[in-house]
Amino acid sequence: MNWRNFLAPYAQVVEELKVKLKGMRSQFEYESSHSPIEFVTARVKPVSSIKEKMKRKNIHMDNIEELQDIAGVRVVCQFVDDIYDIVDRLKSRNDFEVIEERDYINHKKESGYRSYHLIISYPVETIHGERKIIAEIQIRTLAMNFWATNEHSLNYKYEGRMPEKVRTRLKRAAEAAFKLDEEMAKVKDEIQEAQRIFKTNKESDD
Ligand code: GTP
Ligand code: MG
Repeated sequence: MNWRNFLAPYAQVVEELKVKLKGMRSQFEYESSHSPIEFVTARVKPVSSIKEKMKRKNIHMDNIEELQDIAGVRVVCQFVDDIYDIVDRLKSRNDFEVIEERDYINHKKESGYRSYHLIISYPVETIHGERKIIAEIQIRTLAMNFWATNEHSLNYKYEGRMPEKVRTRLKRAAEAAFKLDEEMAKVKDEIQEAQRIFKTNKESDD
């Protein structure tokens, strides 16, 4: 397997999506006081993780395209509402097709994980013509991201065999994080009002 060649179009997609999503973010900042996008990250799955996942899911090399997260992009938002705003905007775009949607916000996972996932089919131009590449876009709040990154590190540390006590604590932490999102939604209007005033003052200073 020539991994470098295989992963090249995925790397291209990741770069293109990063530019496009960061572009959305800047546009929001030019046009309004609140950007539903806080930050964007993107990565190509490392070969070691690809191999591990294929083993775990019993996927043969011939079906490697079944892995939907070789190209992965993450959009982090301040508020839960922002997630749905972004999802709607992404679904109405014409430069890729959303082929699957997973709402792990209203349907949290057993671990406590919350996020909204879109699986897209992205047409990328290669020197051999157009190819459709599958990519995963994860959309989550800062609180969901905080939880997921910590849980991911712990999972890594325990190599998937997390002690029951830690697992239970993480589930509680997930609920606390969601509670924070709910509370923040309630003060959202006040925060946005403050941001508007700040921006107006800043502009009149410039
Ligand atoms: P895997 O969870 O990687 O086996 O992928 P999947 O094909 O079962 O899809 P799923 O929608 O369950 O997960 C896709 C991605 O979401 C994962 O690769 C993670 O980035 C993230 N994710 C899913 N579940 C969890 C979780 O419990 N904790 C954390 N931290 N991330 C998760
Ligand atoms: Mg899974």
